[in-house]
Amino acid sequence: MIYAQILAGGKGTRMGNVKMPKQFLSLADKPILIHTVEKFVLENRFDAILVVCPSDWVSHTQTLIDRYIADERVKVVVGGSERNETLMKGIEYIQDNFGLNDDDIVVTHDAVRPFITERIISDNIEAALKNKAVDTVIPAIDTIVQGENEEVEDIPVRDKMYQGQTPQSFNIKALMSAYNQLTEDQKAILSDSAKICLLAGEKVKMVRGESFNFKITTPYDLKMANALVEIGE
Ligand code: CTP
Repeated sequence: MIYAQILAGGKGTRMGNVKMPKQFLSLADKPILIHTVEKFVLENRFDAILVVCPSDWVSHTQTLIDRYIADERVKVVVGGSERNETLMKGIEYIQDNFGLNDDDIVVTHDAVRPFITERIISDNIEAALKNKAVDTVIPAIDTIVQGENEEVEDIPVRDKMYQGQTPQSFNIKALMSAYNQLTEDQKAILSDSAKICLLAGEKVKMVRGESFNFKITTPYDLKMANALVEIGE
């Protein structure tokens, strides 16, 4: 089975003082989350599409899905306090409701990256059917400088530097086994799901993203996103 999991369990504190988590804010004519889910329902290979949201926002999310998305594959699930906890709540839902087979995969995506394309989703599915873990990246445009306390420590060769995006896609059993090898401290600080697999010694395949597949994090990003919608992506 092939699953999608839209991670919508965050608070969006860097968006500033807004009334609701940023995934529910409007982008042009509808919530950011809905733009994202719309891209996923276009992919026929998904058996189920989970939208994993904060517990206080379940009924709001369900109302939005009922209003905008007419697709029975979409299920609203309660997330967790950390991003990876949200990911694992989705996996638990899959296990409890559909069972788990050795070759099942999940394509996980940030709810706040609404400009994902069908091509990126399709490349993730194909790569995840052949590899245990997949990360979507774009080549670094700027030189990446590593440093601490206002001092440069290293300037890695730019050709080997990438910026991580989502989707990140996994063989579900391999992801669970990697996650179960982490300490509680690691689980709490790891914000990147592909790193779970790296730490467990798994290879992670790279898939090409797009610069416009950016994460809406700040008010500036939301302005940029609105401008993109206005000019027709
Ligand atoms: N996310 C999640 N569950 C969490 C935390 C984050 O599903 N406990 C999701 C967010 O909803 C978002 C994606 O992961 O779609 C990327 O999160 P990010 O923007 O980095 O974090 P937020 O918690 O949403 O925002 P902030 O860090 O500004 O508070």
